[in-house]
Amino acid sequence: MTLFQKAAAPLRGEISVPGDKSVSHRAVMLGALAEGTTRITHFLKSADCLSTIDCFRKMGVSIRETSSEVLVEGRGLHGLKKPPALLDAGNSGTTVRLLSGILAGQSFPSVISGDASICTRPMQRIIDPLTAMNARVFSEEGTGTAPLRIYPSDLHAIAYQSPLSSAQVKSCILLAGLYADGMTSVTEPALSRDHTERMLRAFGAGVTTDGKTAYVSPVPALYAADVTVPGDISSAAYFIAAALLVPGSEILLKNVGVNPTRAGMIRVCRSMGADLTLMNQGMAGGEPVADLLVRSSSLHAAEISGDLIPTLIDELPVLAVLAAFAEGTTVIADAADLKAKESNRIDTVTKNLALMGASVQPTSDGMIIEGGKPLHGASLNSFHDHRIAMSFAVAALAADGTTSVADAECTGISYPSFYEDLKNMMRR
Ligand code: S3P
Repeated sequence: MTLFQKAAAPLRGEISVPGDKSVSHRAVMLGALAEGTTRITHFLKSADCLSTIDCFRKMGVSIRETSSEVLVEGRGLHGLKKPPALLDAGNSGTTVRLLSGILAGQSFPSVISGDASICTRPMQRIIDPLTAMNARVFSEEGTGTAPLRIYPSDLHAIAYQSPLSSAQVKSCILLAGLYADGMTSVTEPALSRDHTERMLRAFGAGVTTDGKTAYVSPVPALYAADVTVPGDISSAAYFIAAALLVPGSEILLKNVGVNPTRAGMIRVCRSMGADLTLMNQGMAGGEPVADLLVRSSSLHAAEISGDLIPTLIDELPVLAVLAAFAEGTTVIADAADLKAKESNRIDTVTKNLALMGASVQPTSDGMIIEGGKPLHGASLNSFHDHRIAMSFAVAALAADGTTSVADAECTGISYPSFYEDLKNMMRR
């Protein structure tokens, strides 16, 4: 259990948050399938991304980690080896879902699974489209969850109308599409993060996009590329929120990924009255980046729904915390997929907020938060969900008294040095 106190000092200074988790996973995956050596800088060395590295090592890919880089010796599209044992994705949904798309196109059988939480998360969402591509992917327990057993087969191209806006589903299909017999496409109800499309293009794949549809055509080879991973906006989100809430704060977050399919948090914070400025905008590793200057602000409520949701899906827990401190009623809707994350985030967020004294109502696809009441410290649980732990560490900074969070060390999934970095920002 970890204890958090109301912030005694404002947040000050600069920070470079760790590399983007989604981009780090993809860089290892595409690097492994490419010809040549892929050099990844600012790679996120967190438990989830290390699970991806471990899976590819088990398939014969040499991956070297230095203090500043990860070097992936690509084996080509058809050079992976049959793993000697089950592929263990740990807690990482991205690893299971994206890797299953790759495994479906291999000439060897494989089994992929992970920890207890991963084995409860929905995989039918990838089994269905992969099966439509003639892949042979089976949930071992017949429950639509991992472990997934995957056998070799000849993949057919499909035009998939996805019922979900999910970058993991889209990416799984696009990666399987590299092995299909023609052009595969995925159309989403609302556009999800497009990191896979951007990076596939940088590695020489035949990828195009048109609105909410992404297309991939098989190519004879992918070619290694240097990838500079931008700072993770999902990690930056906790510092943005903490600086907005703790009076007198002013911080600069350096080199954060601000891809518009991913940076909805910035838009929503601004609509809530946040003093948040983008500086030094540029590109890194094919992704838009910027420095973010954030000053404490008095916030008002927002409506967070519709096409915005996939652009901030992982930031909804911390946005809910912000909403609890903002004047007025915030409605989060169209976000039913929150139930399928590392925890049921509609339940876990609303439970913790209520324990801190917030007026919050869970709904079938989000929550309604009547903000502006002072929150108090409480005995909370992270539910082994890294984003819940970090969101409520931030809530504690703005609440009266002491807050305890059980199993708070689960932040190692995406941000191993989070608590240390947060403390340092308040020490300057
Ligand atoms: C991710 C996509 C999102 C997100 C997850 C990472 C990715 O999931 O919640 O943390 O890297 O593609 P969905 O696309 O399934 O919503």
